[in-house]
Amino acid sequence: MQAQFKGKIALITGAGAGIGHAIAIEWGRRGGFAIVTDMVAEQARDTAAEIERAGGRAIHRSLDVKRLDQIRETFAGAIAEAGGLDVLFNVAGTNLMRNVEEMEDEEWYSIIDTNLTSVYRCSKIAVPEIRKRGGGAIVNTASIAGILAENRCAAYSASKGGVILLTRNMAMDFAPYGIRVNAICPGSTRTPRTESYLRKAPGQERAIADLAPMKRFAEPEEIARPAIFLASDEASYITGASLVVDGGLTAGFKLPLFDQL
Ligand SMILES: NC(=O)c1ccc[n+]([C@@H]2O[C@H](COP(=O)([O-])OP(=O)(O)OC[C@H]3O[C@@H](n4cnc5c(N)ncnc54)[C@H](O)[C@@H]3O)[C@@H](O)[C@H]2O)c1
Repeated sequence: MQAQFKGKIALITGAGAGIGHAIAIEWGRRGGFAIVTDMVAEQARDTAAEIERAGGRAIHRSLDVKRLDQIRETFAGAIAEAGGLDVLFNVAGTNLMRNVEEMEDEEWYSIIDTNLTSVYRCSKIAVPEIRKRGGGAIVNTASIAGILAENRCAAYSASKGGVILLTRNMAMDFAPYGIRVNAICPGSTRTPRTESYLRKAPGQERAIADLAPMKRFAEPEEIARPAIFLASDEASYITGASLVVDGGLTAGFKLPLFDQL
């Protein structure tokens, strides 16, 4: 096991599955202490157990990022038990395919709440704790949907675009305290969420993969490693950045004509 993060403590939201799970596992594998949280308590417990089985250190908590009271209480208890907080990974998020005309008000607010307001809430509670340690990092999970629009993802795209700008705001506001704030923008990644979409439309997998020049989905670990890079001292002069990890999907567009000239 690499001991890169020995003595460092990170809290990860949405760590019961997918990208959050991969971040928690990689953080633990590299010697960091993981506070594993997820809305689904058993999933948080299973991730923490997986870290410990591999020789790492972790505690777990049930946490819904839509609830400020719960965030306050859970962060306070878990951070006291862990002995402090150096890094916050805001990962919990969800999606709903609706255009603006189709969307109900409560659906709009629910997506914005889970994906964007949660980043504000968790960061608000984490910042004073990270300041006590003399600095640290926050890594937010945006999306390429925060850079380019995706059809029928109105609230999702708006929330992820918001995460990118909130990341820049927090980077400015917290640089004086030694807190770097960055985001990752994953492309299509193989997680329980995307698997559930693909089960509903099995023929679509190839078409989605082919959108990226690399012509495949990312594995969650391929998103976790760049996220962890942003939290590490290797990224000591990086703040306010949104790191695109998308197999080239947003690099450009292909003109078939140009292959024929
Ligand atoms: N998978 C992709 O292709 C992809 C692409 C770009 C961005 N992202 C972003 O990455 C993040 C993780 O996505 P994923 O694909 O791993 O999702 P997933 O649905 O596979 O896993 C998400 C985890 O977050 C938890 N969660 C959901 N709502 C929560 C809440 N209110 N409070 C606490 N936990 C909650 C779930 O229980 C689950 O364990 C999300 O922010 C998502 O928008 C994913």
